[in-house]
Amino acid sequence: MQRPILEVKNLSTTFHTFRGVIHAVSGVSFHLNEGEILGIVGESGSGKTVANLSLLHLVEGGVVQADVMRYQDIDLSSLKEKEMEKLRGAEISMIFQDPMSSLNPLYTIGHQIEESLKLHTKLNRKERRARMIDLLSKVGISDPESRLKSYPFQYSGGMRQRIIIAIALAVNPKIIIADEPTTALDVTVQAQVLRLLTDLIHNESRSMILITHDLGVVSKTTDRVVVMYAGKAMESGITKDVIHEPMHPYTDGLLRSIPRFHENQERLYQIPGMVPRAYDLPKGCRFEPRCPKAQPICKNEEPPVRKMSNGREIACFFPISKG
Ligand SMILES: Nc1ncnc2c1ncn2[C@@H]1O[C@H](COP(=O)(O)OP(=O)(O)OP(=O)(O)O)[C@@H](O)[C@H]1O
Ligand SMILES: [Mg+2]
Repeated sequence: MQRPILEVKNLSTTFHTFRGVIHAVSGVSFHLNEGEILGIVGESGSGKTVANLSLLHLVEGGVVQADVMRYQDIDLSSLKEKEMEKLRGAEISMIFQDPMSSLNPLYTIGHQIEESLKLHTKLNRKERRARMIDLLSKVGISDPESRLKSYPFQYSGGMRQRIIIAIALAVNPKIIIADEPTTALDVTVQAQVLRLLTDLIHNESRSMILITHDLGVVSKTTDRVVVMYAGKAMESGITKDVIHEPMHPYTDGLLRSIPRFHENQERLYQIPGMVPRAYDLPKGCRFEPRCPKAQPICKNEEPPVRKMSNGREIACFFPISKG
């Protein structure tokens, strides 16, 4: 089997605040294979953003530790800030969760894409222009030549998100990390933008981590998935397997609370209770207080990650089995 392009083992990120220590990410492992789309899914606050920002040295005020953080042959944890900056520009692009903050309202779209090209490529003026026009057409913006002269406010939300994707693609990165790239858009535009993004990844053999809280998005667009809960990876595996036969009670609960997965159910299931606070986590399994299958051991001990068949991994003492 091919070696993954990106590999993370036992990643933990903590913040020391006046309320106490916040364990935003606790011992999470995942990998990204070349050419695939990996989904990272979980409720708000589960550590999806922090885990990915940690890889790129973009966590402010947090302490990041990991046994392995590797991109190709590069050990990410040992990179100096200058080297990391270069890598972020050229090899791993991130589409940030707050799309509006990624564009500067004071400059034209053309100016903003060109700045990135100037910084990270050796293209001359004419080549940069050609590349920009090509990029805008690729992301489905008609009349790209005149559109380059527009300012962000002259674009609709969906178009702005296409521009952000164009900027992320401008330098030809090997990996794109897209953090909730479509959450701010309405449902039809969401589908179009997701489709565009996944086509661009597959057609140009890039790899992508797609962060989302939406299991519907995961099932439609990703090859593999990691399900996070309160800073931990609860379950991971091939998306189809995880969606069709969830093994972790948390994944099962998440799936049962989505209308389209259980259309003939009278009332939608809701996982009881609340997500624990990040500075006050249960001692054993973090899902134990809400888990329908919990036993005494779950309260006292953290379940180790178990490797199952077909690359599935699961952190649960009592996984669901269909057999
Ligand atoms: N700079 C920070 N200082 C202190 N705590 C932080 C900081 N950044 C994130 N956290 C905390 O870390 C935890 C994980 O946050 P994170 O943003 O990764 O969640 P998320 O899964 O991306 O959620 P969402 O779906 O809302 O984007 C949360 O409890 C959050 O409050
Ligand atoms: Mg987030």
